[in-house]
Amino acid sequence: MSVRIFSASLSGIDAKLVEVEVDSSPGIHSFSIVGLPDKAVQESKERIGSAIKNSGFLPPKSKTKKVIVNLAPADVKKEGPSYDLPIAVGYLFETKQVKFDPESRLLAGELSLDGRLKPTNGILAMAILAKARGIKEIIVPLANTGEAAVINGVKVIGAETLANVLAHLNKTSIIAPSTHKTQASKPVIAGDSFVSIKGQEYAKRALVIAAAGGHNMLMDGPPGSGKTLLAKALVDILPIMSLEEAIEVAKIYSSLGLINSNDPLSFQRPFRNPHHTTSAIAVVGGGSYPRPGEISLAHRGVLFLDELPEFPRSVLESLRQPLEDGMVTIARASGSVRIPAKFMLITAMNPCPCGNYGSQNECLCLPYHVLKYKKKVSGPLLDRIDIQVTVPRETINEDDSVLEENSAKLAEIKRKIAKAKEIQLDRFGGLKIFSNSEMNYKNVEKLALSEKSAKLMLKKAINKHGMSLRAYHKTLKVARTIADLEESETVKEQHIAEALAFKVRANNEVV
Ligand SMILES: Nc1ncnc2c1ncn2[C@@H]1O[C@H](COP(=O)(O)OP(=O)(O)O)[C@@H](O)[C@H]1O
Ligand SMILES: [Mg+2]
Repeated sequence: MSVRIFSASLSGIDAKLVEVEVDSSPGIHSFSIVGLPDKAVQESKERIGSAIKNSGFLPPKSKTKKVIVNLAPADVKKEGPSYDLPIAVGYLFETKQVKFDPESRLLAGELSLDGRLKPTNGILAMAILAKARGIKEIIVPLANTGEAAVINGVKVIGAETLANVLAHLNKTSIIAPSTHKTQASKPVIAGDSFVSIKGQEYAKRALVIAAAGGHNMLMDGPPGSGKTLLAKALVDILPIMSLEEAIEVAKIYSSLGLINSNDPLSFQRPFRNPHHTTSAIAVVGGGSYPRPGEISLAHRGVLFLDELPEFPRSVLESLRQPLEDGMVTIARASGSVRIPAKFMLITAMNPCPCGNYGSQNECLCLPYHVLKYKKKVSGPLLDRIDIQVTVPRETINEDDSVLEENSAKLAEIKRKIAKAKEIQLDRFGGLKIFSNSEMNYKNVEKLALSEKSAKLMLKKAINKHGMSLRAYHKTLKVARTIADLEESETVKEQHIAEALAFKVRANNEVV
C-alpha cells in the first residue's frame, strides 16, 4: 500500500506543498526517487538508509523490496536535502515501523548519517504554508524551531533526531510544541556612532529625513570626509520594524539559513553593505534555483553601495526595476520567481577619481575623466534617488565637552523618527504602504496634504530649474517626511524649501 507524507519545496523564498509518496513491492532490492529530484535529493537515499539503521530501525537494504519514492507534483524540480526526513518517515510508515496520522502533519529536515536532524533552509516559509493549508503540526529540526514558532496557529515540533520524531509519532515520547513570545516590537540596542560623528550637521539632517521616510540618498564628497562613517551610523537611528515587516524579513533570511536560532525574529532593520566586486547574481539574486541576493537581504532596511561608480554598470542598472517595484523578478525556463526587495538605497561616491574635484585641493583628473567617472552612474538610477547631499571635509575645531549630551540627543532623534514613522503608518493604513518614499505618482498629490502656497512654491521652483515631473513628486515626498518629523499635518512652504535643497547639488547641478 502506498503512503503519502506532506513536505514542502522552496521556490525563491516561498514554500510550496510537496507530497512524498512511498510504495514498495516484493522483488530484488531497489530504492528509487522520482519527481525531478536534484543531486542532493538523489543522495537522500544513502543518508536515510544509514540514519534509519543508526536510529534502531530496519533500513530499506535489509529487505528484498522494490521501494519507489515519488515527489509530487512531478513537474517541479526538487532541490536540497530537506526531503530526508519525510522520505525516511514515509518509508518507515509504509513498512509499518511507525503508526500515525500523516494527513495533518508537514515534515522537513536534513538527516545526518547518525540520525540527527540538521538545520534546514526555508523552515519559516514552510510554517507559513502549513498555516495557510490548515495543517496542524509541523515537524522540523530542533535548530529551526525558533523561526517556525514565529508563526502562530501551527504546532511546531522541534526534534533532535529521527528516533525522537518516531517516538513522537508513535506517541511513546511526545515532544511538546515550541512557542515564541511574539512581541509587537522589541527595543533595539543601538550604538551611538551617529551622534559621535563630529559636525556634518547637514548630512546628518539628510540621514534623519531619509531614515524617517525611507528615502534613497546619495552622498558625494572628497575621500575621508566621513561618507562611509555617516552611512554606517544610519543603523543607530533607523526605526524598528513592525511585526509584519519583521516576519517578511525573517522569511528571506530563513530561505538562506541565515536565521539566528537564539533570536529568530529581529526587529532591527537590515543593513547590507556589499563590496563593489560582488557579482550581479549575489547582489540582485538568481541562480538556477533562484535565491535572494543582497537587495532582498536589505528588504525593509538599507542597501549601502559605497564607492558607487566602482560598481559594474550591469549591477547598477539591474537595481532600477527592484527600486521601482520593491520586488525582483527572476525569470527561469521553469517559470519566474518574485522575491521582495523593498530597500532604502544609500550610496556614496567621490566627485572624481582623485577625489578633489570641487574642493580647495587641486584636482589631478582630466575633465574627460571626471565626466567619465560621473557618467558611470546613469541618469535613470539618479532619478530614483530622493535626497542628494554633498559631504565636505570638516574642519577640526570642536571641543569634546559636547559629547556628554550625545545620548540625550540620540534619544531625541530616535523619538522624532519613531513618531514620524507612526504618523506615516496611520496615514497609509490599509494601503500596503509603509513610508512616504513608497507613495506613487497616483497617490502622492492626495496623500501629501500640501498647502496651496507650498504647492505653488514647488511648481515655480520646478519650472525655474527645468526639473522633471518625477523631481516634483520626489520633492513632495521628501517635504512630506520633513513635515512628519515636525508633526505638522500639512506640508508648508518651509518643508518644500528644505526638500528642494536636497535636489540642488553643491556645483549647482539640478537633479
Ligand atoms: N565627521 C567626522 N567625525 C569623526 N571622524 C571622522 C569624521 N569624518 C571623517 N572622520 C574620520 O575619517 C575616517 C574616514 O572616513 P570615511 O567615512 O571612511 O570617509 P569617506 O568614506 O568619505 O572616504 C573615519 O574612519 C574617521 O576616523
Ligand atoms: Mg568611504
